[in-house]
Amino acid sequence: MRFWLVMLVVLALSPPARAEPELRGHGGPVRAIAVTPDGQIAITGSFDQSAIVWQLDRGIARAVLRAHEGAVNAVAVLPEGRFATGGADGRIAIWSRADFSAPERLLDVHSGPISALALSPDGQWLASASWDSTLRLTPLGAGESRTFAGHQGNVNGVAFSADGRAVVSAGYDASLRIWPLDGAAPRVVKLPTPLNALAVTHDGTMAGGGADGSVFLLTPDGALRQQIEAAEAPVIALAFSPDGRRLAAASPRGAVSVFDASSGEKIFTLNGPGLPVWSLAFTPDGRQLLSGGGDRIVRRWDARTGEHLGPVVIERGSDVFAGLDGSRGAEVFKACAVCHTLKAGDGPRAGPSLAGVMGRHIGTAPGYVYSRGFAAHDIVWSKAAIARLFELGPSTFTPGTKMPEQTVGSAEDRAALVDFIEKATAAP
Ligand code: HEC
Repeated sequence: MRFWLVMLVVLALSPPARAEPELRGHGGPVRAIAVTPDGQIAITGSFDQSAIVWQLDRGIARAVLRAHEGAVNAVAVLPEGRFATGGADGRIAIWSRADFSAPERLLDVHSGPISALALSPDGQWLASASWDSTLRLTPLGAGESRTFAGHQGNVNGVAFSADGRAVVSAGYDASLRIWPLDGAAPRVVKLPTPLNALAVTHDGTMAGGGADGSVFLLTPDGALRQQIEAAEAPVIALAFSPDGRRLAAASPRGAVSVFDASSGEKIFTLNGPGLPVWSLAFTPDGRQLLSGGGDRIVRRWDARTGEHLGPVVIERGSDVFAGLDGSRGAEVFKACAVCHTLKAGDGPRAGPSLAGVMGRHIGTAPGYVYSRGFAAHDIVWSKAAIARLFELGPSTFTPGTKMPEQTVGSAEDRAALVDFIEKATAAP
């Protein structure tokens, strides 16, 4: 009772509490993040072979995108409500917000894994970097694709120059290359260590992340301006703040640090990201930094102070976990709530509503588009079947599914989970 009184006071006194929940839903490390220019939507790619489209303010998953045979290593936001994903299968998928059940286009672009994607400033071209040693430019409208060859090994980063007249790449051959789109010979900048990551600001400043833990800052024409000792292990992700003043760098061991991009001084280190951090992105307003972790979670940080944002007190009624009853089963269900609602009338999130799921044949929630492989199984959902689903994991129990791989380790938790689902999804 005291607790609730205190909570009520806290809720009454706090400014309209903003929900800034972590994004949990992937079944593997989060390898790539991009945010739409309006700051509303994030897309993440994962080693679990899926991409997830998130509604950022509520922290819920809107769709699970599944088209690649292998990890989704790269994601990009395209114009007109579209997204691109790049896979370890060498393919690029173009997705439209109008229908996330299948890609609008699926293009065989590279003969090796795609490591990075970038959209040209005019929105016409998608650049991809690959471990097949090449870069490709794929037209989003009509036109012929272009290939840029010359790197001696994996290409790990790609970006456009500020004026859009060149594409820049970073390679494991310890070179950063600036390729003019008019066909002139590329400028090759040799650096002392292999490069794993690349970021470019609006004014053209470039940063390369090195295998020896250095970050190299270069002027727009490729002159080395500064070398920052960023980490003790390879730098594998880099992101500039939208104003270009700050640079975040992540390495598999050690932390994520944020640097002043002009002085090279460290401003702060994030405390407790799920290491290793594979991906970083600032929100377009520059207020938040998102980090995608080896522990499958996307965390949010105050980009000015490095403070961890969330889990926080969330507005009552509006949050993902509203209506969960505090039981052990409800606690376990928190891992599901980003993608599933429980009550009739609460529509689908990235997964179908579970309202009425007990006794229902697999793949038959009205209005939800399932993956074909999943809906073709012959299963009637019961407590035992759902418990088995998360004992074995969706990819084993229901091969062909787009539900990200996850298991619930303990038999007690599975029992509590299915008791909770039965109760919470029963017709009133
Ligand atoms: C990241 C999103 C995501 C998370 C997290 C998630 N699911 Fe799913 N779930 C899906 C998707 C997508 C489908 C549909 C699968 C398909 O079409 O291949 C699905 C399908 C299901 C189904 C089958 C429903 C039907 O109508 O046939 C059940 C049951 C289910 N999920 C339960 C759970 C439970 C319990 C959890 C938590 C332990 C969970 N899910 C976590 C996305 C998710």
